[in-house]
Amino acid sequence: MVAIWKEEIPARRCRLPALNHPISFVGAGPGAPDLLTLRAAERIRQADVLIWTDSLVCPDIAALAKDDCLQIRTSRLTLEDVVPQLIQHHKAGRLVVRLHDGDTALYSAINEQICALTDEDIPVEVVPGISAYQAAAAGLSSELTIPGLVQTIVLSRTGGRTGVPEREQLHHLAALKASLCLYLSARHVEEVEATLLEHYPAETPVAVGHRVSWPDQLLEVVPLREMAAFTERHALIRTTLYVISPALSKDSRRSRLYSPDHDHLFRPRR
Ligand SMILES: C[S@@+](CC[C@H](N)C(=O)[O-])C[C@H]1O[C@@H](n2cnc3c(N)ncnc32)[C@H](O)[C@@H]1O
Repeated sequence: MVAIWKEEIPARRCRLPALNHPISFVGAGPGAPDLLTLRAAERIRQADVLIWTDSLVCPDIAALAKDDCLQIRTSRLTLEDVVPQLIQHHKAGRLVVRLHDGDTALYSAINEQICALTDEDIPVEVVPGISAYQAAAAGLSSELTIPGLVQTIVLSRTGGRTGVPEREQLHHLAALKASLCLYLSARHVEEVEATLLEHYPAETPVAVGHRVSWPDQLLEVVPLREMAAFTERHALIRTTLYVISPALSKDSRRSRLYSPDHDHLFRPRR
């Protein structure tokens, strides 16, 4: 276990009323501290114990914790190491925050932890965060749903060791030609590019984002035919996201919602 005691937790902090507090599973957002939700920032600042995914969460976020917060990094831990820590500190009356990168709904592995805590009758709360795809789109001042061009966003990943069900294999998703956001896929980029080229035109814009919103962010749009070469040139393996989307071509089609000939409840016909 890798644990950093910044200081011994003072007795006054081991207050029993915290037992009534749930363990908070918090989405840290993509990296920049000012992209945290207000609720997420509050939970981190109040935490007596912060158990955080140091392989993916930007250290600037963990640094928001108070000086005497016990910080436990999880990159070398297993579920069997993490869950007892959550339980032990919660039962000792400490405010426990489990911090994951991005949003908690995507590839966060909170489900297995919450199931284990539920078995122990320990209450949990989940605080969502901004996901990497949202940060990448915002970083490019882009909308991923352009009227008449693309109206669907797919969030997925390639197989890897986790495996993806056959019905969700990349060639099925690519056939939609939607805005396709691929997480955890940089290691397989050559294979990914080849599959995507069977469905999207070679000039389709691909946003490649590495550590989006971190101080050393890399975020560029390249044509699909250069996706793998760009990734290899920059040696991107971890914390890399792809957004393959016709919407990134900055097509100037406009929405019906704001069209003068489109009346609706809030803007009746003039
Ligand atoms: C285990 S998944 C967690 C995703 C996270 N829950 C989210 O909503 O963004 C980790 C993957 O998310 C993507 N990712 C997370 N943060 C990122 C960032 N700041 N920039 C680029 N990709 C990021 C990368 O694909 C990375 O390999």
